[in-house]
Order: sequence, then C-alpha cells, then structure tokens
Amino acid sequence: MTKPLVAYFSCTGTTERLAKALSAQVGADLYRIEPATPYTPADLNWRDDNSRSSVEMRDPQSRPGVAGEPLDLIEYDVIYLGAPIWWGVPPTIVNTFLETHDFSGKTIVPFVTSGSSGVGETDARLRASCSEQTGWRPATRLDSATSPDQLRLWAESA
Ligand SMILES: Cc1cc2nc3c(=O)[nH]c(=O)nc-3n(C[C@H](O)[C@H](O)[C@H](O)COP(=O)(O)O)c2cc1C
Repeated sequence: MTKPLVAYFSCTGTTERLAKALSAQVGADLYRIEPATPYTPADLNWRDDNSRSSVEMRDPQSRPGVAGEPLDLIEYDVIYLGAPIWWGVPPTIVNTFLETHDFSGKTIVPFVTSGSSGVGETDARLRASCSEQTGWRPATRLDSATSPDQLRLWAESA
C-alpha cells in the first residue's frame, strides 16, 4: 500500500496551514520544502524591485537552492504539491524541488494559495520541471479559509 504525500513550500504560513490540514484529512505524509537560505520579510517585499523574491521571480530560470537531501519518493504514488502564488506563478524554488526529484510514474496534484490571483501559469511552469511520464492534475487555488472537510472533498475529487 502506498500513501499520498503532501509536499509544500510556504513562507508566511497560509499554504502550510492548508498542507497540514490536508495531510491529516487524507492520511498523507507531510514534507516541507526548505530553502537553503531562508526568506526574510525583506526578501518577500514585492514592492521592492530589488528584493530577493522580486529578483528571483523576474527570472523564470532562477533556481533558488533547497536545503537537505532529496526526498525518497519510493513510497508515494500521489503527491499533493502546495505553494503560494508569487507574481502570478509559484516561486521558482518549487521548480528546484521538482527538478531535483524524479516523479515519473507518479501523479502530482498542485494547489496554490494567493492574495487573490488564480492559478495563472502554474501548470505550465511546474510541469515543465517534471518528466513527461509524470501524471498531472490541473492546479487548484484553495482559499485560506478552506475547511478540513472541503479539503478532503477536494482531494477525493482531484
Ligand atoms: C513575493 C510575493 C509575491 C506575491 N504575488 C502575488 C500575486 O501575484 N497574486 C496574489 O494574489 N498574491 C500574491 N502574493 C500573496 C501570496 O500569494 C499569499 O499571501 C500566499 O497565501 C502566501 O502563502 P504562504 O503564507 O504559504 O507563504 C505574493 C506574496 C509574495 C511574498
């Protein structure tokens, strides 16, 4: 029997809260994508053209480092992948995470949180970092107020 995995990146806790509730609802393991260099509040200032996040997100090829060893995916067939929206797409560190693992034969179910934006180019941007043998469900924007029951229903239908 395999179980699902919820892998997520979160800087200010919104995606993390949903990821934790989702993992509890579907009996999944939880994995936090950790940046090699943590993001400070100044790094996240989108009003500053020179902040780390602004600089990284202006370059779709940027690949901020992830901390730790690659995750062993052998146990998992389904990976729920959570991320915030930064400038209309997930942060490029999520591409780093995808590109440092092999998801062939597995299915990724992406979800995003945002202030108000929809999923935008999330699917195209993230899929490009996975092998062609990776199963993919279209990304969903989950409201920060999504209840545990709603999360379970979403996961069951995704
Ligand atoms: C650098 C940066 C860029 C953002 N860009 C957008 C955006 O384009 N659209 C939007 O609706 N929200 C945007 N937000 C808000 C985040 O998507 C939102 O707060 C998200 O839920 C944060 O998730 P987290 O708490 O898990 O880090 C941005 C936040 C940051 C830090």
